[in-house]
Amino acid sequence: MKLRPVGILGTGKYVPEKVLTNADLEKMVETNDEWIVTRTGMKERHIAAEHEASSDLAYQASLIALKNAGIAPEDLDLIVVATITPDSAFPSTACLLQERLGAKKAAAFDLSAACSGFIYGLANASNFIATGMYKHALVIGAECLSKITDYTDRNTCILFGDGAGAVVLGEVPEGRGFQSFELGADGAGAELLKLAGGGSRCPSSVDSVQSGKHFIYMAGSEVFKFAVRIMGNAAEEALRKAGLAKGDIDLLVPHQANIRIIQASLNRLDLPEEKCMINLHKYGNVSAASIPIALAEADEEGRLKQGDCVVLVGFGGGLTWGASVIRW
Ligand code: UT7
Repeated sequence: MKLRPVGILGTGKYVPEKVLTNADLEKMVETNDEWIVTRTGMKERHIAAEHEASSDLAYQASLIALKNAGIAPEDLDLIVVATITPDSAFPSTACLLQERLGAKKAAAFDLSAACSGFIYGLANASNFIATGMYKHALVIGAECLSKITDYTDRNTCILFGDGAGAVVLGEVPEGRGFQSFELGADGAGAELLKLAGGGSRCPSSVDSVQSGKHFIYMAGSEVFKFAVRIMGNAAEEALRKAGLAKGDIDLLVPHQANIRIIQASLNRLDLPEEKCMINLHKYGNVSAASIPIALAEADEEGRLKQGDCVVLVGFGGGLTWGASVIRW
């Protein structure tokens, strides 16, 4: 079977209004702006209002992506929402979004691969289009990490923010679009980054709430070491599969977890910082939404030019990782 070339037709992003600065965090936990900036690169994050959930952020980002793609919601065949903070365990956030958009004919599901979720979602949705089963797909990374963050834990609360990024996928001219995907997982690292409560292993209870099991737990330095190793490996493997080399990259769009992790990846790939999209100082780590927000911002800034080699790369809980090479 001949596969169709698939690419990104439009991007969009949305972050909630409220901003949480390092100065605000200094009043909440024992930390300081200097530590946060030098250890993470972060300065601000956006935080959802009490009434806002991931589907609300996803909806706003999707409207922009659809407009930029020139695609109507009724033309969507598939909606994939990558998230670790769905509105509820079920129905899926994708179904709530499908209804709100009026995407009547679209199949819809959520995907859980933590911070790698958006790249997993792209790989998934693009295959439906490549095989001819579907024409248009909406892939979103949407998170309200503030709702699962313990604001008394300085190890984690300085890192996370809320937001959503969306892309519309469809057929593109031969030679353009997705050139390769590299996806991976290592469940041996499952304990390093998790939210233990609320599932079938540890259902919600007074005890699960009182013992903080509904908050993110992270073994920071272990995850850091894994990230530094896997970001370079995944990007290089995706390039190899696409028949390209490090020197071919025009723009790297990495998961925005820590400026030191990004700098290590740039060293490994011999890339100058100008060839990298960095916006974690404004949004913090938004898990599955980090890469699509960065991609949409690169698009807004005119940093994605036709023919460019764009590499997306991320890692996250699971443990998981993913990378993709796109000819823009
Ligand atoms: O997308 C999800 C994946 N997650 C990540 O990518 C996170 C990966 N990990 C990291 O980015 C880093 O490990 C952190 C930013 C979380 C921590 O940075 P680190 O350089 O690994 O610091 P550390 O955990 O080794 O802590 C160093 C020191 C400790 O003090 P002592 O034991 O040396 O006295 C911490 O208690 O820094 C202390 N510390 C803080 N100090 C001020 C930890 N958090 C803070 C804080 N403010 N917020």
